Amino acid sequence: MRNVSKRDASRYPWDMTLALCPGSFDPTTRGHLDIFIRTLSFCDELIIGLGVNSTKGYLFSDAQRQILLRDALLEVQAPMERIRIMTIPGLLANFCRDQQIDVVVKGVRNSLDLEHEMPMAEANRALCAVETILLPSAPNLGLVSSSIVKEVALLGGDISPYVTKNVALALAQERELLG
Ligand code: PNS
Repeated sequence: MRNVSKRDASRYPWDMTLALCPGSFDPTTRGHLDIFIRTLSFCDELIIGLGVNSTKGYLFSDAQRQILLRDALLEVQAPMERIRIMTIPGLLANFCRDQQIDVVVKGVRNSLDLEHEMPMAEANRALCAVETILLPSAPNLGLVSSSIVKEVALLGGDISPYVTKNVALALAQERELLG
């Protein structure tokens, strides 16, 4: 898919299509990785945008989430030459405008996700004319969420099917730290 956005008339049809997958990635799951790889099947380049919101109470720091994300991508041999990891310091719409994002891509697992994503997609379109594509999660990853992965891991459950080895290790270390 080329030239998804009509925002910038100076762009040519053969320009690269740049997608943004935003999220908290606290931590990255195989569900996220699946959405990144599928996004790269129809976009040329991908920015993975890490939300930094001090009110969100992340388990992992901004720096840790970024390292876990990068190492998870390396572990699944993602095409790093087509991927950039950046932080989104404020409004997503401003980031999209600054980075000339063609399309925002997010995964939806169920109707709750859809209800959450639809108003955000509409708000972002109103703010900066960026379109959002919602990709249905892969059926085998449909129940994976960072929150469930954290809860299960911190209570000593096995989360290995849902995360890469580096993330599983980081969660195990957090469990030890938290006692
Ligand atoms: O659901 P997530 O993964 O916690 O979402 C994180 C992210 C970065 C997508 C979201 O927090 C976001 O969009 N932050 C930027 C602030 C913003 O633009 N808010 C208005 C959205 S309409």
